[in-house]
Amino acid sequence: MPLYLQIETTNRCNLRCVQCFRREFDAEDRDLPIGLFRNLIGDAAPRSVLFCGTGEPFMSPDMFEMLRIAGTQGITTAANTHGILSRDRMRAIAESPLDSLRISMDAASEEAYARIRINGRYARLVENIDELLSTSRRRPVVQLNVVIQKNNIGELSDILDFARLHQIAFVYFMFGYSFGSARIWGELLGGVAYEDITRAVARARAHARRIRIPTNLRFISRNLPAYWRKMHDPSLPGMESRSCMKPWISSYITASGDVTPCCRLLDRSDVMGNIAESSFSAVWNGEKYRAFRSKIRRGEMQSPSCRECMPRRLRDYLASLLTYPSY
Ligand SMILES: C[S@@+](CC[C@H](N)C(=O)[O-])C[C@H]1O[C@@H](n2cnc3c(N)ncnc32)[C@H](O)[C@@H]1O
Ligand code: SF4
Ligand code: SF4
Repeated sequence: MPLYLQIETTNRCNLRCVQCFRREFDAEDRDLPIGLFRNLIGDAAPRSVLFCGTGEPFMSPDMFEMLRIAGTQGITTAANTHGILSRDRMRAIAESPLDSLRISMDAASEEAYARIRINGRYARLVENIDELLSTSRRRPVVQLNVVIQKNNIGELSDILDFARLHQIAFVYFMFGYSFGSARIWGELLGGVAYEDITRAVARARAHARRIRIPTNLRFISRNLPAYWRKMHDPSLPGMESRSCMKPWISSYITASGDVTPCCRLLDRSDVMGNIAESSFSAVWNGEKYRAFRSKIRRGEMQSPSCRECMPRRLRDYLASLLTYPSY
């Protein structure tokens, strides 16, 4: 059974971030029913749960009840958010058993933020971060998430300064993926030269060391050449994907109850089963899931997402745990 689950509590969202793959999947609005969540947790008994899907997790009417249920069972919890939440919701987060809150900010300046996080509210976000950190006790630990893209490569170091100033525990940089969409790739790094991105990452890495902000920039710099090569020719054999551990240690559950091996596998063909139709354990041990694992091991990537992916390896998970214990 999986060590951790990633759960989409809802696929609804009120932002339209330029890099987001959400609009590429024109799905009907859905919230994961609390009954399905309860059965899932009882059956899979994961060590930890990440609440993050193709929507804003805190727009689910049951988000806090789900956190409560996970908390009573001793499950470590993390959630991603755009952070544009009401004061009441922020207070509820501080009082909830949530262990880690990952706020997607993507920028340091208001200008870059407005270009990336369409419909976001920069001032409200900064206020929410400050209030949360001044009211919450030890938990949740707050992390900033940054998808590296053309609108922010000029301010990666400024993001680190922002994190230092606002007492953020960790800055987590992410490669942007196209999900096969030319629109997304254009928004992410269209027109950017490889030298510009490597220089920006190297500068940010040195700056993070200097001001002592924990990040995953080591992982990013190590994988940058392969990422670049893959993004320009995703048909290349996905040797990196062979080292993917995800199908053995976790599952992704969508708001409609579909189970896929990871949050980047969103096509119908990637669905291993549905928890409204059978138990999670039946899906996890089912024939389709087992065949998927064998294909990953043999490097026979069928999904374009796997082919362009730079999956984390065991050493990357361990490094994250060492620099950021609530990971
Ligand atoms: C899809 S969002 C869902 C949670 C929440 N709405 C948020 O923005 O954090 C989860 C994370 O995926 C990131 N993301 C969006 N589009 C992406 C892409 N094309 N490649 C990589 N990450 C992406 C977001 O910036 C965010 O940090
Ligand atoms: S807030 Fe999150 S889910 Fe919503 S558009 Fe932005 S990245 Fe996508
Ligand atoms: S998309 Fe990446 S992380 Fe997901 S299963 Fe494929 S190789 Fe693994």
